[in-house]
Parts: sequence; structure tokens; C-alpha cells
Amino acid sequence: MNNALQRIKKKIAEGSLIQAKKECEKLLLEEPSNLSARETLGLILQHQGDLKAAEKLFKELVTAAPEFINAHIALATIYSEQGNTEASNKCLQNASRIKVSTIKESAKKHSTQKSITEPSEQLPLLPRGQPFNFKADRFSIWGQEIAFMTDPLFINSWNKVITKTSPHINDSAVYKIFWRAHIAVSIISQIQRKDLVIAECGVHLGHLMQTIMHYFKDKKNIELHLFDTFRGIPLEQIEKNESLAHWHNKNNYKGDYYKTTKNFFKEFKEVKFHKGKIPDTLAKFNNSHVDFVSIDMNIVAPEKAALEFFWPKIRFGGAVLIDDYGFQKHTTQQIMYDDFFSRHGIIPMQLPTGQAVVFKN
Ligand SMILES: C[S@@+](CC[C@H](N)C(=O)[O-])C[C@H]1O[C@@H](n2cnc3c(N)ncnc32)[C@H](O)[C@@H]1O
Repeated sequence: MNNALQRIKKKIAEGSLIQAKKECEKLLLEEPSNLSARETLGLILQHQGDLKAAEKLFKELVTAAPEFINAHIALATIYSEQGNTEASNKCLQNASRIKVSTIKESAKKHSTQKSITEPSEQLPLLPRGQPFNFKADRFSIWGQEIAFMTDPLFINSWNKVITKTSPHINDSAVYKIFWRAHIAVSIISQIQRKDLVIAECGVHLGHLMQTIMHYFKDKKNIELHLFDTFRGIPLEQIEKNESLAHWHNKNNYKGDYYKTTKNFFKEFKEVKFHKGKIPDTLAKFNNSHVDFVSIDMNIVAPEKAALEFFWPKIRFGGAVLIDDYGFQKHTTQQIMYDDFFSRHGIIPMQLPTGQAVVFKN
């Protein structure tokens, strides 16, 4: 990525969208064929809610560079946001027809920024029977037929989310966590209630919860409670053997992202933000029950507090989804969960995504 684009990305991460837009427009005057700059400008416009201008820009982009898969996907999410599902699906189909070799060539030619659309990271709609090879974050699959990748609603939901959050992502592994989002979606679909209460402890930009909200928009009534400092992991809660937490604070949780994340959820009604430190904020949860809890705070102390607080409140048929359970350098979290659940005779269901799921039955 060139220096100017890097500066623009930094501006976006700091929330200075107006300034970022100005600089992007300036860069495009100097380098009109810079696809990454055009894509970034399109994403800024989309983020600002100027869907018409974003649509125009991405349409020009797919005409100028039909192999530039990012543009097709961005256009799909814009149509989807406008409620035009037919046009959106058509764009996704166009995207899925582009050959991986063509994308690689195009990426080389234009040296595009890292995004969901890198060859190994793209999210095409796969017809049933098509094997899918994928190198994810800490797991790989090959020769598998992936049912959720044939679900346009899932693809649309995830792409909507990642397109919005993309300017704020510092860790490229985040582009690959769509399998984790699928796990969350699948669990919610298995909780056989129309009215659900959901809580997430550790939200950051809200990838999992936004995907859920988009996916179940017309299917379930969800009251969502979001707990986060929105400023990273509290230093005093980090134990000596949790050094990865400092890396996260330094690289991923920069500044205060409360407003940014709040904005991502503005189209959904029943969303309550509980900004601050867990365990202090847990008392703000004023419901007697919950159906689904996602725990994802990278360290033991607040996760233990959240688990002890929410587990007794989970209704039968509900579930807790644990992130990081299987990951190396998160051993103390795994031990804490195993210790807690062994008292209930439960073995957490460990998944290759690093997550674990426990249903309350
Ligand atoms: C891995 S991110 C969450 C990612 C999110 N689940 C998603 O779907 O994108 C971890 C988040 O936990 C938050 N966090 C860590 N410790 C916390 C604590 N004690 N109280 C509240 N939030 C905390 C951090 O601020 C960070 O935003």
C-alpha cells in the first residue's frame, strides 16, 4: 500500500472520515487509475451513507476493471442496503464467476490493499457440490462442501459487515473470521424462540453481532446487549502470562471506537450499549434471563466474571459461545472454562475456529 493510502487509512481509523475523503480525492487526481484509492473512497462514501455516490463509483470501477472483485462485492452490499436483493445477488454472482487466477493477476497488477477479496479470503457464493479450499486464521480446510457458503443471506450479511468495518481493521486475520460468524448464526437459528435476548462481552467493531442482526432481521426479535470498554483491555486485568493482550491493545484496540461501533448498529432498534469495564458494567444488564451470550475479551479475569454472571441467567435451549478457547497462548482461559463447566458435568464443544460452544439443556 502506498504512503498516501496508508495515511488515509490511518485517518479513517481515527474517525476523520471527512479529511480521509478529501485526501482520497486528492490522491485520485494524481493517480486516477489507483483502484485501491477508488475502492477506499467508495467505502468512505458508503460509510457516510451516501449510497448513490458510492454506487456510481463502484459501477464505474466494475466497468473499468471487471476483474476487481472488491468492487462487485461492494456494489452488492450497496444494493442490499438499498433493499435491492435481486441486483445485490447478481453482483455476488458476477463476483463468484471471477477466476482466482484472474484475481491474483489483478492484485499483482494493482497491488491492492489486503481485504476480504484476496484470493484465499474471498467469500463467493458456491454452488452445492463445489469443494472449497481455505486457509483461515489458524485452521485450513480443503475439499469440503460448505453449506453456509451457498446461503445468499449469510454472504450478504457478512459482506455488509466487513465492508463497513474494513476501514477500521488493523489485523488482517479479522477478514477470515466469517466461519466464526457462521457458528454464531447457526447457534441462534437453533434456539427455537422468536424473541431472543442476546449479550456480547467483548464487541470491538461488532463483527459477530452485526452479522447476527443482519441475518435475523426479518426472522427474530432480538434484544441485544453489548458490553465493552470500547478502548481495549484494562491493563490491570492482564496477567503476566497474557502478553498477547498487550499486543491486541497496541495493534487492534487503538483510541476510542465507541461511536464508530455504535454507528454500525444504528439501523437496529433494540440494541443497548454498556460502555465500561466488565465486571463493573454487568449490573447494567437488567433482564432476568438471556438466551445467548458471546464471550470474547481475550483474557481470563473479565471472561470469568461474565461467565459466572450470565450462566445462571441463560434460559434452557440457550447457549454460550466462547472465543479463543482453543488458541495457543490462551491456555488459562481454556482451563478456567473447563474448570467451571466440569462442575456441571459439561465438556465444552471445541471447534477448529478456536471457539467452543456450550448449550444449556
Ligand atoms: C476480540 S475483541 C471482540 C471482537 C468481537 N467479538 C467481534 O465480533 O468482532 C475483544 C474486545 O474485548 C474488549 N474487552 C477486553 N476486556 C474487557 C473488559 N474487562 N471489559 C469490557 N470489555 C473488554 C476489548 O475492548 C475489545 O474490544
